[in-house]
Amino acid sequence: MLELKELKEQIDQFLEQQMPSDIDQPTLASSMEYSVNAGGKRLRPALTLTTVQIFGGQLNQNVMKASTAIELLHTYSLIHDDLPAMDNDDLRRGKPTNHKKFGAGMATLAGDGLLTMAFQWLTDNQLPTETQAELTLALAKAAGPAGMVAGQARDIEGEHQNLTLEQLRYLHRQKTGDLLSYAVLAGGIITKQDSTTKNLLADFGAQFGLAFQIYDDLMDVVGTAKQMGKAVHKDASEHKNTYPGLLGIQGAEEQLHLALKQAKKTQKKLVDKTGHDFSAYDQFLAYFKL
Ligand code: IPE
Ligand code: IPE
Ligand code: MG
Ligand code: MG
Ligand code: MG
Repeated sequence: MLELKELKEQIDQFLEQQMPSDIDQPTLASSMEYSVNAGGKRLRPALTLTTVQIFGGQLNQNVMKASTAIELLHTYSLIHDDLPAMDNDDLRRGKPTNHKKFGAGMATLAGDGLLTMAFQWLTDNQLPTETQAELTLALAKAAGPAGMVAGQARDIEGEHQNLTLEQLRYLHRQKTGDLLSYAVLAGGIITKQDSTTKNLLADFGAQFGLAFQIYDDLMDVVGTAKQMGKAVHKDASEHKNTYPGLLGIQGAEEQLHLALKQAKKTQKKLVDKTGHDFSAYDQFLAYFKL
């Protein structure tokens, strides 16, 4: 079983090698590769690959290609999230944002290219066609206008509204939880688990994802740009609805603990249901340092 650190190396290497062959315009290639190869924690593909390994699956080329597609899509979401018309950020993954380096037009196209290429990688491999179709539907639902994009729409509309905790939780579940939920579920799809198990995997990812966005909100208040690789103290000035903005630091920490408690409960349910060892998820749960 490869650990998170080794998985990150494999993911970095796979992305770097595989991307150039699928892009046919030099500036676009530079722009897409710039943001993907800038690094990032690679948590989403690592969650898929960890789940595949838990169920005894092999990390061959086909599984790597289908599992790293989510990182292309996630990187698109960051490029577009940083655009002047969205969060207007200058720093991402410790480097100037894509539009700072390539301009807003090319950054928009780099995002378009990465989003499209993600679905290409889900299907341009030798996995069974049913597996490809199931992954494609699940990612489209998670990333599209009933998932992440809907959450991002609530996020920018929310700059002019004070959301309730229930509304904010829904927003965070969509904009961040849905992709992380897909990331875990994809490992179950690739290894052909039954629907009860796949539902538990999706639940674990969603609970982890909610915790992840609450923590991101907290780090905007108490973290540093060096540690995060992006600007901090920006959410309040952009009139964002956030957990610490609504509940204070302590209240946000309490909600983070509640989400993590739910995730751990689901981790245990997965053990009870499948008999597999899910302790590899502890590496991801250790991300939250308070
Ligand atoms: C940033 O995601 C966007 C959020 C959902 C908070 P990550 O914190 O996973 O960013 P990278 O991929 O490591 O750069
Ligand atoms: C998550 O929200 C962004 C996406 C879902 C793309 P944020 O806007 O808080 O993410 P950061 O803080 O810019 O990484
Ligand atoms: Mg945003
Ligand atoms: Mg942002
Ligand atoms: Mg943020």
